[in-house]
Amino acid sequence: MKRLTSICALSATIWAVLSCGQAERKAETPVYLDESRPLEERVEDALSRMTLEEKVKILHAQSKFSSAGVPRLGIPDLWTTDGPHGIRPEVLWDEWSQAGWTNDSCVAFPALTCLAATWSEEMSALYGKSIGEEARYREKDVLLGPGVNIYRTPLNGRNFEYMGEDPYLASRMVVPYIQEVQKNGVAVCVKHFALNNQESLRHQYDAIIDDRTLNEIYLPAFKAAVQEGGAWSIMGAYNLYKGQHLCHNQYILNDILKKDWGFDGAVISDWGGCHDTDQAITNGLDLEFGTWTDGLTMGATNGYDAYYLADPYLERLRDGRASEDVLNEKARRVLRLNFRTAMRKDKPNGSLCSPEHYDAARRIADEGIVLLKNNDNVLPISRKAGSRILVVGENAVKMMTVGGGSSSLKVQREVLPLDGIRAAAGEGVTVEFERGYVGDISGSYNGVVTGQDLSESRSAEELIEDACLKAKDADAVIFIGGLNKASHQDCEDSDRFGLGLPYGQDAVIEALAKVNPRLAVVIVSGNAVAMPWVDNVNAIVEAWYCGSQSGVALADIIFGDVNPSGKLPITFPVRLEDNGAHALGAYDPTSTEAHYSEGIFVGYRWAQKKDIKPLFAFGHGLSYTTFSYSEAEISRTTMSENGNVTVSVNVTNTGEREGKEIVQLYIGDDECSVERPVMELKAFRKVSIKPGETVKVSFPVNADMLKFYGTDGWTLEKGSFTAYVGAASDDIRTSVKFNVN
Ligand code: BGC
Repeated sequence: MKRLTSICALSATIWAVLSCGQAERKAETPVYLDESRPLEERVEDALSRMTLEEKVKILHAQSKFSSAGVPRLGIPDLWTTDGPHGIRPEVLWDEWSQAGWTNDSCVAFPALTCLAATWSEEMSALYGKSIGEEARYREKDVLLGPGVNIYRTPLNGRNFEYMGEDPYLASRMVVPYIQEVQKNGVAVCVKHFALNNQESLRHQYDAIIDDRTLNEIYLPAFKAAVQEGGAWSIMGAYNLYKGQHLCHNQYILNDILKKDWGFDGAVISDWGGCHDTDQAITNGLDLEFGTWTDGLTMGATNGYDAYYLADPYLERLRDGRASEDVLNEKARRVLRLNFRTAMRKDKPNGSLCSPEHYDAARRIADEGIVLLKNNDNVLPISRKAGSRILVVGENAVKMMTVGGGSSSLKVQREVLPLDGIRAAAGEGVTVEFERGYVGDISGSYNGVVTGQDLSESRSAEELIEDACLKAKDADAVIFIGGLNKASHQDCEDSDRFGLGLPYGQDAVIEALAKVNPRLAVVIVSGNAVAMPWVDNVNAIVEAWYCGSQSGVALADIIFGDVNPSGKLPITFPVRLEDNGAHALGAYDPTSTEAHYSEGIFVGYRWAQKKDIKPLFAFGHGLSYTTFSYSEAEISRTTMSENGNVTVSVNVTNTGEREGKEIVQLYIGDDECSVERPVMELKAFRKVSIKPGETVKVSFPVNADMLKFYGTDGWTLEKGSFTAYVGAASDDIRTSVKFNVN
């Protein structure tokens, strides 16, 4: 009994000691590690424990895609990845070449132009969720994307990575993408901030632009990304503004982004976009990447120490040329980014190449593919038993996920258009293929190879002849061409040479149209192309780059299993000169000055100002059903400065099948002291409507939607405005006037 008592006493003592130890340990948990504490407290605590050297260490890369944490404090490294359509394969520590892993294949989601063409915030959220999960599974902390540079010229090689020509559409589409990615504990890095609207001389050109154009056209999507999306990081652009590179730019990064917009995240340089230590210190850069491409082989023990924000910064701090306050501010921002991502303990696990992600890629593509023209019901193609479909064109068989620059991927699967059509055609339908033309037969990027043999020995004439022979008596002919991801097509680091289709495709299309009127032309591209044959072809589809599910989604549309509902986020001009920048000779790929002389008149704003009929207008897209619009109604015809009005319209499905319509609200300022666009997109709603059904769509209008950027900033001028409601910028069905007083 005595013994038992003493054992009990002993265990009580041990327990007391243990729990006291625990309490002490608990009390000792550093603030920065305690996730229940506010982020700012944790950041300050971590900062207070860091040495000067450690603070500098976290401000620059330590490998191609990672930057160091603070190992002594258990703060992990930060891992970034491209972006923006899938998770880039792992590359070697200090080289661009892929590392050759076998577990880093991903799902390629549709290019961002396609996402923008869905005009669906729901699809944008699905995109962000899915790619965020892939990033998380691959243990990435920062996804280098999305891109929201405005589509200024159809020649820009990177337009496919962006969300079109309209600042409002891009703003609405970017926000859900960001919010959903970041729910995974993965930061977005919105790029390329700002005025990165061409690839020619991208490191050299200075964007010469007025404040109104900057604020009305080129900044809104970034502002929405920061203020509404809550982006945790942003990537400076390569080019210059007001003579300063945009990775260290006083006006754009310090004055606008950090001061005016209250951005609390980190500014990351584009890879190799930092050029100067002093400017990097003062002009808003927080985290430097990509400066030396061969860091470890430079002869230094660690080439990364030679970065502008590495040893040269340390020297300036040590000898007093640089202040520790500025350093602390940068370190704070990088720590915040780290704590929101790499440091976060309760992150979801993510998932890679899941059935849900393939399904998401397909749904986004289904909603983004645009039916541009459809006479004589050429589409959808019927699956009549015994029928014969001829598919012509290189893009029916060419992989598009490899190439194009930093967005290039290593996919687990890419269903090619021809395979998708074959699989969906079903029993009893013969699908034949003819090459039609030879474009780009290469298929590798940084060591990722498609393994496709696209070599061809026939001449251009023979290819056309062979295609026409088979096309003559086919029940349907589908030409699948467009651009690709080679240099001077849709590709980083170069712009296109012209608006026309490359590789003699026009001749192939003309020849096919002559022998078979049941021809549908499918353009795979991230850019507008010229269509001199437009009147001779009955059906035209813009299929974008749809990634892993390209062929599946295209077949969904071609056979009518899905009713098309995408609309153009860009204007297709007839000729290059119908675009403002080109009409004014303001796009010059050889000049180190890019004059934005067309001002706010980008895309449809220019076409409408000049009364130019586009080939296909911004907002255009057909369906296999039809929609009628009632007269617009307005809740009041006068509105005060702080008030609002509501514009409503009833939309009826007048066709035979269910479909989705994108109802667009544009507003024009009838009388104004400055020149304004005829109308500008201010709201839209994508609604699904059953045959015979009518849906009421209402748009609240407030003063902010009516302002322009004047000499004193955002300005509302009283007077008359017109609200235009329609199915496209050139298909306004109804309008109503109201007065602001
Ligand atoms: C591109 C960025 C990309 C980075 C890293 C740069 O060349 O402009 O968009 O994220 O490389 O690959």
